[in-house]
Amino acid sequence: MNLSLLRESCIDRNIPIISIETEDFLSKLLEQHKPKVCLEIGWAVAYSSIFIANKIKERDGILYSFEISYNDYLEGIQNVWKYELKNLTVYPFDFLKIDIKKLIPNTLDFVFVDWQKSQYANYLMNIFDMLSTKSILVCDDVIKYKTKMFWLYEFLEKKQIIYDEINTEEWDWVLLIKKE
Ligand SMILES: C[S@@+](CC[C@H](N)C(=O)[O-])C[C@H]1O[C@@H](n2cnc3c(N)ncnc32)[C@H](O)[C@@H]1O
Repeated sequence: MNLSLLRESCIDRNIPIISIETEDFLSKLLEQHKPKVCLEIGWAVAYSSIFIANKIKERDGILYSFEISYNDYLEGIQNVWKYELKNLTVYPFDFLKIDIKKLIPNTLDFVFVDWQKSQYANYLMNIFDMLSTKSILVCDDVIKYKTKMFWLYEFLEKKQIIYDEINTEEWDWVLLIKKE
């Protein structure tokens, strides 16, 4: 799937999307772990959602995504139509104000967190018991925004959650959490 035009359009309009390095990292991770039920928080105009949904569709994987901005949500839906993906559901909601378990009653195999960095810890608290011991959770941009993520590291320490910080780019890292 060629997403280069959508990438260029996002860059031209200063819409923040995953870097090429993060895309490569996610690609390998999805191939390795073969998740079925996936969740993404922060779809912007659906660049990473299209990428993930396309990657998991051959194994009947499904992706749920959330976007707080209604305009971005609508633009993203138009982008998804162009790529004819049917395994993707997006909700135009503030993730912190919804009862996630009512919308997604399944165990989450893969979670990609790419939204308001200061809220990452609240986010984890919402979904942590929806993860299994085989689930993978990835948070993007953890070094660039480290000062905003004090609560996340405190939460991980308090719950004794094992995590890795993986250097995907020269100037940024992702946080990889496995619930063990
Ligand atoms: C970095 S962008 C996501 C980029 C996208 N993952 C990609 O790579 O194509 C972060 C998005 O999170 C959304 N967001 C911020 N707070 C949110 C919330 N509380 N609930 C849902 N979405 C939120 C923002 O509106 C923004 O579009």
